Formats: sequence, structure tokens, C-alpha cells
Amino acid sequence: MTAFRVFATCDIGSEALDRLEQRGYQLEVHDSITPPSKHLIIEKVASGIDALITTVRDEIDEEVLRAGRETLQVIAQDAVGFDNIDREAANRYGIPFTHTADVLTDTTAEFALFMLGCVSRKLYPSEKLVREGNWETWHPYHPMLGDEVHGKTVVIIGTGRIGRAFAVRCTGLEVNILCCARTAVDPEWLTRMQRILTLQADSGLTSLPCTIREVSLRQALETGDYISLHVPLNQDTHHLMDRKALNLIKSTAFLINTSRGAVVDEAALVEALKENRIAGAALDVFEQEPLPQNSPLRDPALEDRLRLFHHFGSGGRQTRLSADPEKGMAGRTVEGLIQVLERKNDQELTRIPYVVNKEAFGG
Ligand code: GLV
Repeated sequence: MTAFRVFATCDIGSEALDRLEQRGYQLEVHDSITPPSKHLIIEKVASGIDALITTVRDEIDEEVLRAGRETLQVIAQDAVGFDNIDREAANRYGIPFTHTADVLTDTTAEFALFMLGCVSRKLYPSEKLVREGNWETWHPYHPMLGDEVHGKTVVIIGTGRIGRAFAVRCTGLEVNILCCARTAVDPEWLTRMQRILTLQADSGLTSLPCTIREVSLRQALETGDYISLHVPLNQDTHHLMDRKALNLIKSTAFLINTSRGAVVDEAALVEALKENRIAGAALDVFEQEPLPQNSPLRDPALEDRLRLFHHFGSGGRQTRLSADPEKGMAGRTVEGLIQVLERKNDQELTRIPYVVNKEAFGG
């Protein structure tokens, strides 16, 4: 077999990458925590590598893809989101790319849930109080209170894999759930979800009979107490949460974003927070990552109401590193790459799992 040449823009997990070497591939891994420059990626691609392993921080644009037009057979993205890859250019040059859907769904959904609890119940200000030695006495409301989640309404914007997994986790919270999505929410899924909520109330396990419904974006924003974003970033969703949308949100509501930073207009969010037009927000993703030192989101005046995380939603040990393609992003990235490079015959091309742009095969 040909020794396929692979360049990985970072160490996505050594156990999974070992699989490539065991198959006789020539693997080069960028040997640094910081990303390679675009110039270096282009240089590697132009040197004729067969496959490129990427992450969300690598901009795989026209220039990179053009450099691989004759030789690059696959890009394996170690993430579910792929807004950093120019899909049209990839198609133009016939370069398929894979991603790691499914294996990070539950991990990201549970992180979103914990972010919701964290910002609503003021976990950070409470811990800060204790750590900084400012806890003077136990008092019914001094120096702060949190907002209880049960009895409230959670809005889920985007009912793909992660949005749905988040919804399932919300069934344990005694909340009403409102869903909204670009295309209609699957009614069969809504029925199954409602069955869980009804069963909890009918069997006396919860005091409130909760509901799940599909609503318009406007209705969702106007009614929700927690608004959780689960949409991919594209032209339609860029700044979906702009000034106008944020103005619709209740001043007591919280925004949770585990999708992509640019789904939220950060300047508008800062303004809304400062003017107390929204109670708080928890962000795991940003318009620019890492979050710049001078970002207005770092304003100390917002600190108690604004939780900031380092794009950590899928950051569970097993989810990030397992070499098992059914469990880990590393395993799935490597498996996707192998599947494309070692495809048996051209009729099977469009059936290769994990490939996003099957149209790149021209079939
Ligand atoms: C992380 O954000 C991913 O897209 O996997």
C-alpha cells in the first residue's frame, strides 16, 4: 500500500494518531500547542500531502484548498462544526472533508446545561465571595440571590443533534421547553419528549406538568427565561442574536451560547448587559478566539453576570481523546480520514461516513 502522507495541525490524541502509523502512513504532527501559521499549512499542503487533520482554529480557505487541488485527498476536521472550512472551494477542488458529529453531542449538551445552572444560580460570584474572604455571615438574601431554574421556560434555538440532546437533559429540570429551528421541528420527536414530561407529572414525580412546543423565533425570544443556542454558523445565523433580537429578550432572561461566537453580536450583547436589558449570559464561544485581552466582554462590571469559557463544551477526556470512533473525536477524525483514503471503489464514495461535502466527489 502507498504510504499516505498526513499533516496534523495539532496533536488531536496520540492513541488515535498511532493508528495511522500502524497502517504505514507517514504522519507529521505540528509540534506545538499554538496553531501553525496559514503559511505553514499551505506549505505542507503544497508539498503533496494526502490528508490534512484540522481543528476549529485553522482557517482552511480558498488559498489552502487551491494548494491541495492536485494532491490533497481529504481534510479530517477534529470537530463537528466546520465553518472554518470553505466548503465551496473544497467542492471546487474536489476535496472532501470529514467531521466528528455524534461523538460530542452529549458532552456539549451537558456543558450547556451546566452553563445555564452556573450563570442562573450565581456559582461564580458565590465561590468568589468565599475565596476572597468576603463571606461575612449567612443571611437570607445578602449579598446576593440566584434565580431558580425550575418552573421557568427554556428556549432551544436549533434542534439538531446537540439541541435535542440538550432538550432531553432539560426534562429533568421541571421547565417548559420551547423549540425553534430553521426547518420544522420533527413532530415525532416533540411527541416523544412530551411523553416524558407528561409521565413525570402523571406519576407524581414532578409537581408541575411541563410542556414542550415549537414556536417562532420571536415568540421564543419574548417568552424564554433561558435561551440556548445550538445552530451552526452560516450566513443565516451570523449575528442571529443581534441588537434587535436581544431587545426582544426579557430583562430577566439569560443567554447561553455553546454554538459559535459569531451567532451572537458581542457588541450588542455587552450593551444589553450594561443596560440591564438581559439578566446574564454564559458564553463558551466567541467572535474571536481566544478572547482578546481587550474584549469588552471582560469588563469587570459584567463579571458577576457573564460567564466566559474557553470553547470547552466538548472538552471531556473521553470525548476529545478516545481512539474509538464511536466515542471520541480523535478516533472519529482518524477513522474518517482512513475511510476516505482507503476507499475501495468509487461507487462507495458518497457512502463514506463522516464526510460532510459528499458533493465534492461529484456524485
Ligand atoms: C466544537 O466547537 C466543534 O465544532 O466540535
